[in-house]
This record gives sequence, structure tokens and C-alpha cells, in this order.
Amino acid sequence: MTVNDPSSTSLQLTDDGQLRHFLTLDGLNRALLTEILDTADSFIEVGERSIKKVPLLRGRTVVNLFFESSTRTRSTFELAAKRLSADVLNLDISTSATSKGESLSDTLLNLEAMASDMFVVRHSQSGAPHFIAESVTPGVAIINAGDGRHAHPTQAMLDMLTIRQHKGRFEGLKVAIVGDVLHSRVARSQIRALNELGAAEVRVIAPATLLPRDVESLGCSIEYDMVRGMKNLDVVIMLRLQKERMEGALLPSEREFYRLYGLSREKLALADAECIVMHPGPINRGVEIESAVADGPQSVILNQVTNGIAIRMAVMSMAMGGQMAERTRRQAGRARV
Ligand code: NCD
Repeated sequence: MTVNDPSSTSLQLTDDGQLRHFLTLDGLNRALLTEILDTADSFIEVGERSIKKVPLLRGRTVVNLFFESSTRTRSTFELAAKRLSADVLNLDISTSATSKGESLSDTLLNLEAMASDMFVVRHSQSGAPHFIAESVTPGVAIINAGDGRHAHPTQAMLDMLTIRQHKGRFEGLKVAIVGDVLHSRVARSQIRALNELGAAEVRVIAPATLLPRDVESLGCSIEYDMVRGMKNLDVVIMLRLQKERMEGALLPSEREFYRLYGLSREKLALADAECIVMHPGPINRGVEIESAVADGPQSVILNQVTNGIAIRMAVMSMAMGGQMAERTRRQAGRARV
């Protein structure tokens, strides 16, 4: 499986273009991305009610299968599934049979035997959710919650929802993504989403050692100097230094990195006065972002977290809808023969 694998399009869409899995933003057009944003918008109001529930996934079982650590993504997927009225199972991999040597395929067969309807998967291997979607029983939806360095499509979509809320549009926007692009599945999905939705410019700002070799082909401009790169920006997205994925020394020191690529008040002042500051979290204060900026008036970092619930509700309900439509078609096909 490669990053722009065309087979992922047919894998994640039904014959009539509905979502049935959500694995990557590759192959999803502007109309579908906009439908996800509009559906999420309609769910925001549910989170503001005193009884925060709609019955769309009532009676369905959603399994959160996180093979890598997570705070925001896992808990917002859980809340999203609960607000859709699903039964939710959170499998703690560190205490599951995976730690006794059970293979991914065997774990999945056992979970399928419990009549699960949806797996939300985070895995350190790029392509793991695709692999599962290819082999899972028809009718079970797979949602990618981050695979290796490849993709984190729900994160990118909650970021798009946040940008749309604050800027009202994508056309004409200049967006920078700063820092450890090399290890970031988030950046890859964001670049894809921003281009599809019509942003004027996606600029990555990073030292050469933290850029992927194929960066040019991702659809962004490159800037090594942050002071130059901050000019005329509408949105700046900061990334965490993913030290757990780094092999060898890619940086002189954290202090030097902060001096050159950290978002301080001074550097933010170079951007448009209305520029918003984003970060997928977890943030490392003083490493890639100054506390006063993370907590400052231009920061929308906590709005991103809130929007994560609505986006995940949208994607889960749309994928389940696609699976159900397909099941109805299969049954109708069988009835005809
Ligand atoms: C990111 C991830 O896991 O890819 N976090 C997230 O899901 N909000 C980014 C990171 O870990 O730095």
C-alpha cells in the first residue's frame, strides 16, 4: 500500500460514492469532504444539549482498537460513539492478548465473532487500517485513527472544521504547517485536505532534516526560514517533535529548534493580525510553542479538541450509513437470484 494508492478509493467508498470505511483523504473529493464538514456542523448542537445523544448508532458495537498511545483521539472517538448511542468497547492493547503474541488478524477474528459493527484503529504501521478493511467481514466499518506516518484523516477534518468556523472559507487562505513534518501523519492529511478544499497556499516550514523526501509531491511550498515563512499567514499549524519516531539525531538541540522554529509571540506577530494558531496536540510548551501563544487570543487549540467529537460522529455515522446501504443492496441482489 502506497500513500496515494488508488485502491483505497474503491475500498473506502461504495459503488455510488458513499463512505463505508474512512482510511485516508486520498481519493475523496471536495463534495464529500464538505459533506463531512456539514454533517459535523449539524452534530455540534448535540454537544451543547443537556442530553447529548442521538440514536443513529443505537444497538451498534464500536470497538476502539488503539495499538499506540492516545489521549484526545481515543477519548473523542469514545464520546462520539456514545453520543451516537453505540455500545463502545475500549480494548487496552497493553493488557490484551496482543502482548501474549496474538496476531492482529486473530485479534480481529475474535472481535468480529463478538458481532462488532465498527473498528476504530490506531497503529504504528502505515497501512494497518487498510489491511484490516481489506480482510474484514462485509458490513463492518473501519475508521483510521492514525496509521504510522501515513494518515490521520479525522484529525485533518477536525482541523478543517476549525478553520472553516474561524475563517468562513478555504479559498484564498494561506496556511503554514511548521516543524516535524517528516514524522507527521497529521501534516500529510492536512495538506491533502487543504488542497482539495481550495486553500491558496499550503506552506511547510521546517529544517531539511524534518521534511519527508517526497515533500514536493505532497502539494505544498517549502520554506526553511520561519521568519520569512510567517509573512501573510491566515493559519499557522504547529507540530510536535515526534521524538519517539526519530532514529538518530535530526536536530542540533531542542533549544536551537525552539529558537529557529518555535512559535513565539514575536514570530506570530509577523503573520496576519487575524492569524489563528492550531496544534493537533499533545503540545510541548517551550519546545515548539510558547505558552503565551498556546493560551493566547489567537489560539484555537481547544476548539480543535471540541470539534473532534462532531467530526468523529459525522464520519462514524456516514460510514455506518454506507455499510447499511450496501447490505440492503446485497440482500436485494440475493433475493433476485
Ligand atoms: C497526533 C498523532 O498521534 O498523530 N496527535 C493526535 O492524534 N492528536 C500528533 C502527535 O502525536 O504529535
